[in-house]
Amino acid sequence: MRVLVVGGAGYIGSHMVKLLGQRGCEVTVLDNLSAGYRDAVTSGRFVLGDLGEFEVLDEVFRTGRFDGVMHFASHIQVGESVREPAKYYRNNVFKTQYLLDAMVAHRVKSFIFSSTAAIFGEPVRVPIDEAHPREPINPYGCGKWMVERMLQDYDVAYGLKSVCLRYFNAAGADPDGELGERHEPETHLIPLVLRAAAGRLPEVTVFGTDYDTPDGTCIRDYIHVTDLCEAHWLALQRLRAGGESTAYNLGNGQGFSVREVIDTARAVTGREIPVHYGVRRPGDPARLVADARRAQAELGWEPRYNDLATIIAHAWRWEQRRTPG
Ligand code: UFG
Repeated sequence: MRVLVVGGAGYIGSHMVKLLGQRGCEVTVLDNLSAGYRDAVTSGRFVLGDLGEFEVLDEVFRTGRFDGVMHFASHIQVGESVREPAKYYRNNVFKTQYLLDAMVAHRVKSFIFSSTAAIFGEPVRVPIDEAHPREPINPYGCGKWMVERMLQDYDVAYGLKSVCLRYFNAAGADPDGELGERHEPETHLIPLVLRAAAGRLPEVTVFGTDYDTPDGTCIRDYIHVTDLCEAHWLALQRLRAGGESTAYNLGNGQGFSVREVIDTARAVTGREIPVHYGVRRPGDPARLVADARRAQAELGWEPRYNDLATIIAHAWRWEQRRTPG
């Protein structure tokens, strides 16, 4: 199978490229390296380019004869999207449309889209299933939802079949220790906690201790990056077998508070993790937990690394590789 992975040099994309390579796929990666790393692409053909460059896109599709496309290339910071909505709509929406138009022009029919729990906005019920109202509260979530809507229309008009995968909190690292998370700047909880454990940060700040949760800190559903990639693989198989367009929520269905994450990281690393208790970060819902039963039932997806300590242990091994001594 020939697969185009857009954003294959980034965190989740690079893990996907590795998995596709292991499954015998012929992989082409298109990445502008704005947030990715060339050395994170461990197999396949690499094309340096941006979705906004028509000639690059056309050349990639003319030479690739793809069976499917996976799209990981987006900006991912909620707070930044509020300050710079133009950047988010341009990259995450309009450039995605260029990609879809290239697929239509070159008759590629199977598309796997990286969506997000942020399309649901402030949850009205938890766990969050696929039918939960989509009321995004920031440009990041709005843009992802706009693409999901666009995909429904592209299916009706052009027969482009898609699976939108709504990630909850992607975390962890390649179990082999070869790949991991390399965001700069890093804003996600687990890598920041591990940087504090490694002494690369003086402390980690807990954003708010007055939420309506048992210990007052926010609850999230952390899902191992390798399990996410497995869901992409199964979703692509489903489309290739004639499956209809759909969307799935991807998480473990289990929530952990910020304090629980830090305590687990202390146990896994055996290190002290200095903590500063700060104020709330604007836009953070108290509790985000996935109801992922539909992905399990329809895709046969079963998360393998659904234990928080394992997720943190894999991320810790990666962090240590990056911290000499
Ligand atoms: N947190 C801290 N201190 C930090 C960083 C995070 O206390 O230094 C807290 C946050 O307030 C939140 C939790 O840790 O309660 C997790 O925060 P992350 O930034 O790791 O992840 P988010 O839940 O904010 O974001 C994730 C994805 C986004 C997606 C969002 C959906 O990373 O891409 O879920 O709401 F948009």
